[in-house]
Amino acid sequence: MNLEQFTKALPKAELHLHLAGSVKADTFLKLARKNGVALPEFDKIEDLYRYDNLVDFLQIYDLVARSVVDADDFHLITYEALAHVANAGGRYVEFFFSPQVHQDAGISYQTMFGGLLKAMDDAETDFGLMSRLIPAINRELTIERSFEFLDLVLPFRSDKVIGIGLDYDEEPFPPAPFKPVYDKAKKAGMRLTAHAGEGGPAANVRDALDLLSVERIDHGYRVMEDPELVARCIAEDIAFTVCPSSTVILTHWRDLTTADHPIRTMLDAGLKLVVDTDDPPMLQTDLAKEYRLLGETMSLDRRTLADLALNSLDAAWLDDSTKRDWRASWSAEIDGLLTASEDPAYSN
Ligand code: ADE
Ligand code: ZN
Repeated sequence: MNLEQFTKALPKAELHLHLAGSVKADTFLKLARKNGVALPEFDKIEDLYRYDNLVDFLQIYDLVARSVVDADDFHLITYEALAHVANAGGRYVEFFFSPQVHQDAGISYQTMFGGLLKAMDDAETDFGLMSRLIPAINRELTIERSFEFLDLVLPFRSDKVIGIGLDYDEEPFPPAPFKPVYDKAKKAGMRLTAHAGEGGPAANVRDALDLLSVERIDHGYRVMEDPELVARCIAEDIAFTVCPSSTVILTHWRDLTTADHPIRTMLDAGLKLVVDTDDPPMLQTDLAKEYRLLGETMSLDRRTLADLALNSLDAAWLDDSTKRDWRASWSAEIDGLLTASEDPAYSN
C-alpha cells in the first residue's frame, strides 16, 4: 500500500474547510455565467485560482462567493464540497461558511441555509458523510456587523449549525475587539473557534483563548514565537487546525521541508495538530493529499500520520460517546492499515 492509498484510506475528520474556498473551478465558471458575475480575464479557468498571498486570495474567494445566489447554487457547492471530502477518505466534516458576503449581495439567510442544510442531509444519505456547519465572521467588517451576523445566525443554531469562527485577514484585524460578540455566542450555546496566529502575532492566539474563549485555534503558526504560550497550549490540550498547502501558497512559510517551518516546529514541540485543507480546490488539494504532503516533506512515518488522524476526531465537536465509539472503530481500522503497510505484498 503506497502513501497515497494509505492517506486516502486513513479514517480522518476535516475541521477547517471554507465552503466558498471549496468550489471547483468549473462550477465557479458555471455559476458566475449563470448569475452574471464578471470575471477577470483568464486563459484557463484554473488560472483564476492562482495568487501569491492571502489578500489576493480573498479577492477571488469573495468573487466565488458572489457567484452563489439561489438555494440550488448553495446546494450544489455544498454537495460538491462534501463529496470532495468523502472522496479523499474524510469521515466527518466541520466546515466554515461566510454569510456576510452573501448578505451584502441581498441574499436571505433562508436561501443560504435552505440550500446548505439540505445538501448536508443529502450528503449524509447519499454517501454517509456527517457534517456540521460553522458560520464565520468576516473580521474585516465592523463589530456592529458581527452582532448583526449573530442575530441572523443564532436562530439557526441546531445540532447541525454548531459554532462560530472568525476569518479573513487577521494581521490588521486582531481578535480582541470581537470579545463581546463571542461572549454572546457562547451564552447562546455556540462552540467557538477563530483564525489566529496565521498572519498576526502569538498575542492573537493568547487573546483568542483568553478573550474569545475559543476551544480550538485555526492555523496558529505564530504561537511558536511565544514558548510560554506553547507550553500552556500543550498543558490545556488546545488543538490547532493546520493547513500545509495553505501555508505554502498564502503565507511566507513556502517550504514544508525546512526545519523552521511552523508545522514542523509545532509538531516537534508536542502541540496537538489536526491536518486540514482550508480551501481545497482553490489551493489545488484534498484532505488525503495534505496528509501525504506532510508525510513526504517532513518524513513522518505512518504511525505519526495515523495519530494526526486520531487528533482530528479528538478535536471534533462531537459528543463524547460518539467520539469513544468512533475512536474504537478508527483505531481498529488504523491497526489494519498499519499491518497491511508492513506486509511486503502491499509495499510501495
Ligand atoms: N478564508 C479562507 N481561507 C482563509 C485563510 N487561510 N485565512 C483567513 N480567511 C480565510
Ligand atoms: Zn481558514
